[in-house]
Amino acid sequence: MEDHGISKAVVKRLPRYYRYLGDLIEAKVERISSNELSDMMNVTASQIRQDLNNFGGFGQQGYGYNVKYLYQEIGKILGLDKTYSMVIIGAGNLGQALANYVKFEKRGFVVKGIFDINPRLKGVAVRGIEIRMVDELPEFIREHKIQIATLTLPKTGAEKVAPILAENGIQAIWNFAHTDLHLPENVVVENVHLSDSLMQLSYNLNHLNQ
Ligand code: NAI
Repeated sequence: MEDHGISKAVVKRLPRYYRYLGDLIEAKVERISSNELSDMMNVTASQIRQDLNNFGGFGQQGYGYNVKYLYQEIGKILGLDKTYSMVIIGAGNLGQALANYVKFEKRGFVVKGIFDINPRLKGVAVRGIEIRMVDELPEFIREHKIQIATLTLPKTGAEKVAPILAENGIQAIWNFAHTDLHLPENVVVENVHLSDSLMQLSYNLNHLNQ
């Protein structure tokens, strides 16, 4: 699938299309027009057509979009047709919550290991996965060919562990720690800040009806 030159804004919208299409598949809907999708998603039909045209457009005039095909194609663009090996570093509240969330695994993100520095957590199992100590991390990453590291530890720890991850072949970091990591260009980083979303909510709440 040729997907070079797709704007970041479009890529950002793809997971939402993917989610809605997944719901349509569950509801046994086989095809949908851009207008119907537009009503559901509260996005203009022309935006939808424009977005999907980036990939050669999967729609046919008079027919609309084949839901399953579109879902699969967007999945491929997002790389969801593959599986990824992942570790979680920081086995506190957030790390354990993420490890317990089985849907990530269904999407292909398989948690292979969970790491912490707290010796009291050593050997504790989260969804059947034993928590290990961070000194085992470099070898574990290499041995299990881990691609993604999820950082759910305080920022000083994240800054210390990030270069070790890069040196040992980690390709992607899902970073929940409140710090901007400086890593070689071949390591992709996705920062997640739930507080940004909450601040957005707060703004909207305070500008309601103004
Ligand atoms: P927590 O205190 O429950 O868990 C943190 C865990 O990291 C602990 O088990 C601790 O032993 C471990 N840890 C500390 N230093 C470490 C190191 N060098 N190597 C390995 N493990 C280490 O905290 P919680 O609530 O799970 O949050 C984790 C981090 O994520 C916090 O720094 C918090 O600020 C951040 N956070 C970020 C959010 C976001 O949206 N980006 C949302 C919630 C928390």
